[in-house]
Amino acid sequence: MTCWICASYGSKYRIETTSPFNPVIKETTMKIGIIGAGNIGATLARKFSAAGHQVLLANSRGPQSIQSLATEAGAVAATVTDAVKDVDVVVISIPQKAVPHLPKALFAGLPENVVIIDTGNYYPAVRDETITAIEGGIPESQWVSQQIGRPVVKAFNSIMAQSLATKGQPAGTKGRIALPVSGDDAQAKKIVIGLVDEAGFDAIDAGTLAESWRHQPGAPAYCTDLDADELRLALTKADKARSPQLRDLTLQKMAGLAPGYTGEDLLKINRSLHE
Ligand SMILES: NC(=O)c1ccc[n+]([C@@H]2O[C@H](COP(=O)([O-])OP(=O)(O)OC[C@H]3O[C@@H](n4cnc5c(N)ncnc54)[C@H](OP(=O)(O)O)[C@@H]3O)[C@@H](O)[C@H]2O)c1
Repeated sequence: MTCWICASYGSKYRIETTSPFNPVIKETTMKIGIIGAGNIGATLARKFSAAGHQVLLANSRGPQSIQSLATEAGAVAATVTDAVKDVDVVVISIPQKAVPHLPKALFAGLPENVVIIDTGNYYPAVRDETITAIEGGIPESQWVSQQIGRPVVKAFNSIMAQSLATKGQPAGTKGRIALPVSGDDAQAKKIVIGLVDEAGFDAIDAGTLAESWRHQPGAPAYCTDLDADELRLALTKADKARSPQLRDLTLQKMAGLAPGYTGEDLLKINRSLHE
């Protein structure tokens, strides 16, 4: 939580108790701005805040529209511009088609060591407009990186929001779900790998951003809730040309589900495509 005591200590600190008479001041490991307060953005806000980070949460409609959500998530509602100010990490968690509509030069003044995470996926048939460069084969996060003019790390894109919210487990738990992390900067990936672990998941270094198509929609590693060994194997089995077809087939199968379907129903569909 944010309070005057914390403010007087600076952004690297947080308070651990609600009693003003007995505040426990602890070092906050990072200040994280999340752009996108939907299924994934809000879930990550809860997780990062619970892990002790200071979290800013922003959407397209302004802080007042997410005030109570942000408070419940342990975050501070912010404008998109404020969510990238003086932060250590930025998470972009918005529909792919919205990325070009982020404010121009949003990231221009950010120090180079600020890590930018892209959780996004491209769904042309149901949500995103056709993006010619992605249709032409550029990995989705490389396209995002081009749009914002900054390197990104691809992470948290390949787990359904429900699994992200409910299936995290302590490190060392047998069968712990693993998430791939792709990017070109080893230090940035290290930071993201730490965040994945804090969120309750093993992290697998899935290589460069150029290789990140291996965990895009339709790939065996995409939203199939695999453990570390299974994920490593799934990443090797990815077929770049086939994934978009399997992504669209998943959507067709989802459309055939009875109302009230669950995340487990979706998981079954995703897994069945690769059996
Ligand atoms: N849902 C999943 O299970 C899942 C899993 C992994 C990855 N992903 C990917 O992660 C991304 C986010 O997914 P989601 O399910 O969390 O989406 P969502 O629930 O639809 O939420 C989208 C959020 O993005 C915000 N937004 C849209 N345009 C914006 C803009 N120009 N500036 C600032 N904020 C903007 C929206 O704010 P407003 O409401 O104010 O417009 C909303 O808070 C997508 O690319 C998705 O494919 C989703």
